[in-house]
Amino acid sequence: MALKNTSFLQACAGERPARTPIWLMRQAGRYLPEYRAIRSNISFFDLCRTPELCAEVTLQPINRFGLDAAILFSDILVVFDAMGAKVDFTPAPVIESPVRCRADVDRLTFGDPATELGYVFDAIVACKKALDERVPLIGFCGAPFTTLSYLVEGKGSRDFQHTKTMMFGEPLLFGQLMESITTVLIGYLKQQIASGVDALQIFDSWAGALSPADYRTHVLPHLRRLCEEVRGTVPIIMFARGNANLLSTVSELPADVLGIDWSIGLGDAIDVVGPKWVVQGNLDPMTMLGSREGVRKKTLEILRTGQRAGGHIFNFGHGISRYTDPEMVKFLVDTVHAYVPETAGAS
Ligand code: CP3
Repeated sequence: MALKNTSFLQACAGERPARTPIWLMRQAGRYLPEYRAIRSNISFFDLCRTPELCAEVTLQPINRFGLDAAILFSDILVVFDAMGAKVDFTPAPVIESPVRCRADVDRLTFGDPATELGYVFDAIVACKKALDERVPLIGFCGAPFTTLSYLVEGKGSRDFQHTKTMMFGEPLLFGQLMESITTVLIGYLKQQIASGVDALQIFDSWAGALSPADYRTHVLPHLRRLCEEVRGTVPIIMFARGNANLLSTVSELPADVLGIDWSIGLGDAIDVVGPKWVVQGNLDPMTMLGSREGVRKKTLEILRTGQRAGGHIFNFGHGISRYTDPEMVKFLVDTVHAYVPETAGAS
C-alpha cells in the first residue's frame, strides 16, 4: 500500500510538491475539545501508555483539518520508562528523583527501549492502521540535551542551574550521561522506524539554554551520533529551539530538515543555513490568538520566503497554544493549501 498524500515526504526530500505541506507541533492536544473529552477520563501518562487512545488522539487533528502529516501522540518524557526514572504529571512533568551526581547516574538502568517502551511501538502500529495511508506518521524523541536536562533539573527550569553545574563542574559525568541517553534514543528511534513511522523529529526544546560554543562542545557530537546511526530509511527533522544563534552549528548535522523556531525571520534563517537546506517553520503560534488577517499576512510571508529554501514545510515555530481556536487552525491550513507560488504561473 502506498501513501495517498506524499507532499510532506516530498518536501523532506527537497522536492516542491504542488502545495506546501503543513503540520503543526502539538497538533493533537488541549486546544481540541475532543482531546479534552478523552483527557477528562485518564491521566496524561496513562493516555500515552494506551495505544488505542494514542491512535484516536493522533487522528483527531487529521480528521478535522486535512493536515499533511500526523505526529504520534506521546511525549518526549516517556523514554524515562527505559531509564528507570519516574516521571509524574502535576500538571506539568516532574521527575521523582532528579539525577545530580555519580550515585544518581549509577542508579539509572538504561534498558532496551524495544522491550521497555512497547506501548509506544504498539501506538505507532495502531496509528498506521487508523491512518490507512492517508498521510505519513511522524515519530519523535527529545534530543539528548533536552532529555538530560529534564532528568537533572527534575522539571522545567529558567537558568538550568543543576544541568550546568554538572556540565561545567563534572564534564566527564555529563558526557557519560549524554552518551548513555543517546544510546537509548538511538534504539528508541530505530524501533520507531521498525514499527512504521515515516519520518522522525528530534526536539531539542531546551537548546537555547546553552551558548553556541558550549552547544558545539557538549551537545553536537552526541546529536551527530544520533543522526548518523538513525538516518537512512526515513527523513530526520532536527528542531533546536530557543537560540537562533545555534542555527549555523545545528546545520552541520546530517539531518534532512531543519526546524526553525519563531525567534528569527525565516529569510534570515535561510541566509544562515544556506539555500540547500529544507526548512520547517516558523509562524509564532501565538499569532493564532490574534486576527485572521494577521495570520493570513504572516503565513503568506513565510510561504513566499520558504520558496528560497531547498524545500519548505509549513509549521509553527513552537507548539500550538492551548488557547487556540480550532477554527483558526482550519483557516491556517486552508490558507497554506491555497497558496500558489508567484513564480509558478509567471510567464
Ligand atoms: O505534537 C504533538 O501533537 C504530539 C505529541 C507531543 C506532546 N508533547 C504531547 C503533550 C509532543 C511531540 C510533545 C513533545 C514535548 N513534550 C516537548 C518538546 C516540544 C516542546 O514543546 O518544546 C517537551 C518539552 C515535552 C515535555 C512536556 N510535556 C511538557 C513540558 C508538558 C507540560 C506543559 C504543556 O505544554 O502542557 C507536557 C505535556 C504534554 N505533552 C501535553 C501534550 C498534549 C499536555 C498534556 C495535557 O495536560 O493533556
